[in-house]
Amino acid sequence: MNVLVLNGSPKGDYSITLQTVLYLEKINPQKTFTILNVGQRIKALESDFTPAMEAIKNADVLLFAYPVYTFIAPCQLHRFIELMKEHNVPVEGKFVTQITTSKHFYDVTAHRYIQDNCQDMHMKFVHGLSADMEDLTTEQGQKEARNFWRHFCWCVKNDYYETSYSKTIIPANKPVSIPTQSAKQLDCNDEVVIVTDCTPTDTSLNDMIARFQAKLPLKSRIVNISEYPFIGGCLGCFNCATDGVCIYKDGFDSFLRDKIQTAQTIVYAFTIKDHSMGSRFKMYDDRQFCNGHRTVTMGMPVGYLVSGNLSEEENLRTIIDARAQVGGNILAGVATDEFDPDKDIDKLAASVVYALQNKNLQPQNFYGIGGMKIFRDLIYQMRGMMKADHQFYKEHGQYDFPQKEIGTVLKMYLIGALISSPKVKSKMGNKMNEGMIAPYRKVIERAGKK
Ligand SMILES: Cc1cc2nc3c(=O)[nH]c(=O)nc-3n(C[C@H](O)[C@H](O)[C@H](O)COP(=O)(O)O)c2cc1C
Repeated sequence: MNVLVLNGSPKGDYSITLQTVLYLEKINPQKTFTILNVGQRIKALESDFTPAMEAIKNADVLLFAYPVYTFIAPCQLHRFIELMKEHNVPVEGKFVTQITTSKHFYDVTAHRYIQDNCQDMHMKFVHGLSADMEDLTTEQGQKEARNFWRHFCWCVKNDYYETSYSKTIIPANKPVSIPTQSAKQLDCNDEVVIVTDCTPTDTSLNDMIARFQAKLPLKSRIVNISEYPFIGGCLGCFNCATDGVCIYKDGFDSFLRDKIQTAQTIVYAFTIKDHSMGSRFKMYDDRQFCNGHRTVTMGMPVGYLVSGNLSEEENLRTIIDARAQVGGNILAGVATDEFDPDKDIDKLAASVVYALQNKNLQPQNFYGIGGMKIFRDLIYQMRGMMKADHQFYKEHGQYDFPQKEIGTVLKMYLIGALISSPKVKSKMGNKMNEGMIAPYRKVIERAGKK
């Protein structure tokens, strides 16, 4: 079996994820592993795709190996998938799977992104391995990697693969009528920044942005990231870990802080591509790693203008929700051009104004709380290196470790001791419920008195 490994890590041979692949190669000498560093060599592959095409043609099975980067894959891998589709790579019917390493922060959406794209290309997709960064250094992690590979080989042998639930997404491109008169301007300096990667050919998205600006009674300006002179995608080099300064000298870290994060609201505008926001947008997202894991836009409303069939993109919708949740942002709304674009856009404009006026930040849900707990533990462990994050977490009370709540812990010991005595338990009656509800009753009693 010829296995082609598509290494999406921008670190190439220094990829942690790749080490799991090398481990599997070592214990399976009967299989030929060919490694293509597609993440690191993306610029060369953009100019000449032949080496990838040849390698894909010669492969029996494909293995995507990459790190999870901000909810999905590194932008370099997004670009590679675009190139695979542009070049109509002959992969139909080939088996494919994936290995990632990460801290399990939204590894699920990354895996689903690769699955959906492989299934677009009519490949036979088998569930992958989502390993923690350190897993391979433990016995358990090695066992899991071996078991994963054994299962994959079994699937190939027995022609077993996942059913595809995704359809190929074609951007809707419905015409949107632009009103001739601008909406009345409010006496308000709140500024909305529209971050987009749209090009003149994205007609529907351009129309959506124009209508949104016309309907929005606030100042707005466009930052077009397709024109930004990015030197490249995030390299994962951790140069920014101590002081937030990116190794690239293209000024993006300052640009982000001075021209985008200074706005009152950010509205992202993109056309759905390969079940995501496309490689350019992903580059913009990945490069925000200069902010580490700091929720620097906490409390800021965000919105989305999306061209394409978002209703069929469950994974992308999850990513949109989760990004706002983890960032502590108010998700003002998502407008698409799928069904009734004008109405959607007008609603978004009104909702942005409401969000800015009311700053109604709701409690975080599972996406937000769960994600932040992973970050909290990670930053605490890595505080010696992630100095900027550590400082931010201390300043913003984000080290909310349960063991710090000594009062609650002691109270629970007391209750535990009481209810483990059958005698006390029998006399308790409804006292526990009464006790639990008491603080809320106090609030209700006091309510309306001020
Ligand atoms: C820009 C960037 C974004 C990242 N985003 C995530 C993430 O969303 N979830 C996660 O669990 N880990 C994330 N990580 C951590 C990497 O997934 C992890 O370090 C991985 O093991 C690196 O693998 P590699 O050495 O193969 O590139 C991110 C790291 C970088 C540099």
